Amino acid sequence: MSNRESNTVYSRIAGTGGYLPERILTNQELEAMVDTSDEWITSRTGIQQRHIAADNEFTLDLAEHASRQAISNAGLQTSDIDLIVVATTTPDQVFPSTACLLQSRLDIHGCPAFDVQAVCTGFVYAFSVADKFIRTGTSRCALVVGAETFSRIIDWTDRNTCVLFGDGAGAVVIQAHDAPGVYSTHLHADGDYASLLHVPSGVSNNLAAVQEGRAYVEMSGTEVFKMAVNTLGRIVDETLEANQMTRDDVDWLVPHQANLRIINAIAKKLNLPMEKVILTVAQQGNTSAASIPLALHEGITNGNIQRGETVMIEGFGGGFTWGSALLRY
Ligand code: ACO
Repeated sequence: MSNRESNTVYSRIAGTGGYLPERILTNQELEAMVDTSDEWITSRTGIQQRHIAADNEFTLDLAEHASRQAISNAGLQTSDIDLIVVATTTPDQVFPSTACLLQSRLDIHGCPAFDVQAVCTGFVYAFSVADKFIRTGTSRCALVVGAETFSRIIDWTDRNTCVLFGDGAGAVVIQAHDAPGVYSTHLHADGDYASLLHVPSGVSNNLAAVQEGRAYVEMSGTEVFKMAVNTLGRIVDETLEANQMTRDDVDWLVPHQANLRIINAIAKKLNLPMEKVILTVAQQGNTSAASIPLALHEGITNGNIQRGETVMIEGFGGGFTWGSALLRY
């Protein structure tokens, strides 16, 4: 029996939205802040600029802009949303969750709303969870958001990290549908690698780390780079095999935008020319959980990704966490 003939429920993207703060920080400006150069940043990462939230602008504000646009682009009302999942590492408050605060902003009441924390893989995790809520019939119309003000957990005197990250939010509305939609999602983590990419302070153990001045992102860049390339290479195979597809079946790659060289390696693995890869890293830098939905939104709004085409999304981040999804737009 084909998927179409079965009663299986799938989730399908109904609309996307994105928001970037107005303030742009260029590589040239960073040259005046730390010992770096536009040439080093561009050649090692592909990043030319990033957006930085204003002092009075928070993750929730970014999430609200992106969400309203995604709901409107889906041709829906806020009252149609029956699940909210927000991926963020930079929530406005310890609690309530950013998802609950967003629910109130959108004047939605009663539906489940919660945050997911998987750093740069956060959106893939949130998307996978929401997809499962829809597949099991628990939800019919989910708002999935990746939103970050990563600039708030960056040490702006540390050239190893401050050149890489930016702020932003992306949102996707997924709805129940009788055909894919989302073919499969794949999530992984290995906490043994926690110390290679982390913020050592938190809530429970905050005091000592903050007193030591360790309240910001610390990264062993080269180790993270190697692991990201190897791990993402493997997950590409896993995702294709799970759907009995080959590299030729993939029309678009929408990767997490950490580093152009990592993205190049994955595109090569998929045998995809770079014209078939949605790239925002040059203009936005690494916006952590926001980068994949922002790239998806860009690929759809600029007319590249068309209905019926097959899209692979993938990400890698702190934890380590990594994940992918294969879907028909
Ligand atoms: N400007 C100039 N020099 C710099 C800068 C800078 N901004 N940053 C580091 N360097 C120096 C280092 O001090 C080091 O110098 P040394 O050799 O004298 O010690 C040297 O550059 C390192 O150079 P490379 O080995 O060429 O660095 P590499 O090619 O590994 O690139 C980078 C570094 C860009 C950080 C890369 O490793 C990377 O992108 N890593 C992965 C980041 C990532 O994917 N993170 C995952 C997601 S993030 C998340 O989950 C929060």
